[in-house]
Amino acid sequence: MDFLTSSTHVHITTWVVALILFFIALKKPSTGVHMGLRLFYVLILITGFMLFVTFDSLNPMLYGIKMLAGIIAIGLMEMTLVRKKKNKSNGGVFAGALVVLLITIILGFALPGIA
Ligand code: HEM
Repeated sequence: MDFLTSSTHVHITTWVVALILFFIALKKPSTGVHMGLRLFYVLILITGFMLFVTFDSLNPMLYGIKMLAGIIAIGLMEMTLVRKKKNKSNGGVFAGALVVLLITIILGFALPGIA
């Protein structure tokens, strides 16, 4: 399972694909795209956790915050799509998702990394 932790590329691929599927699902809601997105949530979590358990840093708290932000971002993305599907207002959760995503990405790249 070395390929999962020897670089962050697999993790980056999973969340970039997830972001693309998220915006497609927002523009043109479809169950298939949403199911595909959920699969990528799982892949983000697996690759993120694998990186998390192997990290070696003087600043473990930032890694903890990065992990939390990533999990919250996924939660808000899912809520945005589900609220849209139920015809409920989703502007708030969508804005929240964008903000937390930005924080996650900035924190991710700010961490020492093994890319
Ligand atoms: C939508 C959700 C997520 C986004 C956009 C995201 C984004 C990123 C980015 C931009 C990096 C930096 C890659 C690099 O420096 O090469 C990264 C690394 C990392 N992510 Fe995520 N991530 C997400 C979810 C998660 C989750 C859920 C976890 C934990 C369960 C996690 C754990 C990590 C860890 C441990 C690293 C390695 C940090 C390092 O050593 O540089 N991520 N992520």
